[in-house]
Amino acid sequence: MMDSSPADVAADAADPTDVPTDIEDASVDAPSDARPPWQQPWMPGPRARPPAGFLWGSATAGYQIEGQLGNTDWSIWEQLGRVTNNDRADNGPQSFTRWMDDVRALRETGQTSYRFGVEWARLFPTRASWEACRNATGDNAAKIATCRAAASTEGKQFYHQLIDALRSSTPRIVPMVTVHHWVMPDYIADPRMDFRSQGWMNARMRTDMALYAGVVAAEYGEKVDWYVTLNEPLVLVLAGYLDGRFPPGGRLDIDSAITVIGNLVYAHAGMYDAIKANDRTVAEMTGGPIAPAQASYVSIAHHIRAMFPATATNANDVRATARADWLNHGLFFDAIVRGNFDANGDGRIGAGEPSNDPALRGRVDYLGINYYGLTVMRSIAAIPLVGGLPLADELERGLPKSDFGWDIYPRGFEEILVRFGNEYRLPVVVTENGVADSADVNRPRFLYEHIAAMLSARQRGVNLIGYYHWSTIDNFEWVGGYCPHFGLYSVDFTNPMRPRTARPSAMIYRDIIRSGEVTDAQLTAAPAYRTPTRFCPATVSGSGADAGR
Ligand code: NOJ
Repeated sequence: MMDSSPADVAADAADPTDVPTDIEDASVDAPSDARPPWQQPWMPGPRARPPAGFLWGSATAGYQIEGQLGNTDWSIWEQLGRVTNNDRADNGPQSFTRWMDDVRALRETGQTSYRFGVEWARLFPTRASWEACRNATGDNAAKIATCRAAASTEGKQFYHQLIDALRSSTPRIVPMVTVHHWVMPDYIADPRMDFRSQGWMNARMRTDMALYAGVVAAEYGEKVDWYVTLNEPLVLVLAGYLDGRFPPGGRLDIDSAITVIGNLVYAHAGMYDAIKANDRTVAEMTGGPIAPAQASYVSIAHHIRAMFPATATNANDVRATARADWLNHGLFFDAIVRGNFDANGDGRIGAGEPSNDPALRGRVDYLGINYYGLTVMRSIAAIPLVGGLPLADELERGLPKSDFGWDIYPRGFEEILVRFGNEYRLPVVVTENGVADSADVNRPRFLYEHIAAMLSARQRGVNLIGYYHWSTIDNFEWVGGYCPHFGLYSVDFTNPMRPRTARPSAMIYRDIIRSGEVTDAQLTAAPAYRTPTRFCPATVSGSGADAGR
């Protein structure tokens, strides 16, 4: 469903004046025989040490590890045959019962923080429980009290026991809570039904999400200071409304994507305010990386990619790259940092669009950045808004690959950290960075190179205060099911006890945390990247119904 004609789109793509064009190395003047920037040799430069209280951790998401969340849009998505091998999240690490094993892994590796999700469908498993919360009356305190009473006792306790175990570890493992990591209760979004009035298409999500964030902050705020409101909001838009891989499965549905972006931006602002209003307790009095200590530090986890035009001398490729970069990266940060919201995604703040808007600006305490690699853009005039599409990840680019077919590109990590750190002048937390590598042959070098790249960015002036590796343990990789293995620890999914076993790279991470540095000797000695031992497609071909449309 597109509302722009190809002619409109071509006209839009032909106007280069309004989009940011500061894409790294995307020089139209580059000599045509030059190697593309991603193939040029790179070694991390001088590196700074992390500051005291640096958050060294790893990350998971509720739905990807817990199991027993059969009341969600994603569990329906699985039933619709939308996941590789028909894998089911229920057959995963089962952390709902085995969470102590996760805490043990964090302890064994000396991690000082853990990012995990608090699932809406766990705290409010039924429509009735959420309605009781949503319809509560009175002032904020009264409403939140009603909501906490309506929430599942078992659900609330589950996260309390996890948080308590983290905080009573020696040294303490500081909890970082993700409020929304893509998954919704089935009474909010059911992918079998018309998606247009559901989930993120519904403006009610703005207040629902803010209310839920307020409940989470009130329930756990005495023990939690670090929050991520929304995980990778633009990936949710891309996969849910443009390429159809995630529920609700929209394809090139630009109008819906724009609606959803608006709802996400305002939901975040509401979530930020609700967390501030409902968590007034400083949980970590000492040792944090930001002084003075605050009751809450709130951001999103924004998926940022190093983006390049397929042909640096092709002005249309350069323009499509700038457009994709703006839509994927700049638009959301500009809205919630500066209050400038390009609501129609056309690359400019037009009349009627929020500018320096007090309802949006200043809703970020740190920049949360997830980094996995690079995207190469090819112009296609008929593609609305962007004027191009990313080339397939699997294409050979002369770079080492992960089991997912993604390129390994640490240089881009350093560059995007420097770019966004300088642009917004806020502390930066790497909320995710990792690699699918079942055999653990590439993760050791990946870890050394990416952490070195981050410490180089710190040396170059970026106020980096945390790094979370994705992931603590192997888990349910959405449409990819159990094929890609991102864990520092492997999980034996065939064993009913789901034992977690440290991969060699887990111990490398432990040693980096202990020493707080990556040396030139370590970079030199790390085994060279190898061809992956498996390939895990991130799409499901030939299966699944065209749900909801
Ligand atoms: C980012 C997402 O937040 C996470 O859920 C996912 O598993 C990793 N990327 C790896 O694809």
